[in-house]
Amino acid sequence: MNIDELIKKALEAQKQAYVPYSRFPVGAALLTKSGKIYTGCNIENASFGATNCAERTAIFKAVSEGEKAFEAIAVVGDPKAFTAPCGICRQVFVEFSTDMKVIIAKNENEYKEYTLEQVLPLSFTPKDLEESSSKEG
Ligand code: THU
Repeated sequence: MNIDELIKKALEAQKQAYVPYSRFPVGAALLTKSGKIYTGCNIENASFGATNCAERTAIFKAVSEGEKAFEAIAVVGDPKAFTAPCGICRQVFVEFSTDMKVIIAKNENEYKEYTLEQVLPLSFTPKDLEESSSKEG
């Protein structure tokens, strides 16, 4: 995996962020297990709850094109800090790929790499529904 390239794509995507309310642009680049990259930016809304995070934009683009297995996602926000994915985005990641890497970057040279398990321990996943005792008997 080329982490540099993934972070560069996230930085490019960040430029497309639609952030008239927070003025906090975020970019994401998602690498699929098949080797494709899908990018995303945050898209805000006057009805604030309708805002979509950069990471989910990237994931939804990928899933809508038939990709559901992910290797890694790079996220860039504040260039002076490491902007971590929000809880909702982490939950969306784990729906598809419990073993993906989460790269939180300031730029191509300054980044931190985590496993999804590290950033979302003890998660609720589709497996929990399969194993649910409420389905027995
Ligand atoms: N945001 C993201 O795009 N990703 C995150 O994981 C954190 C938050 C966006 C949502 C909103 O547009 C802005 O950052 C401020 O919360």
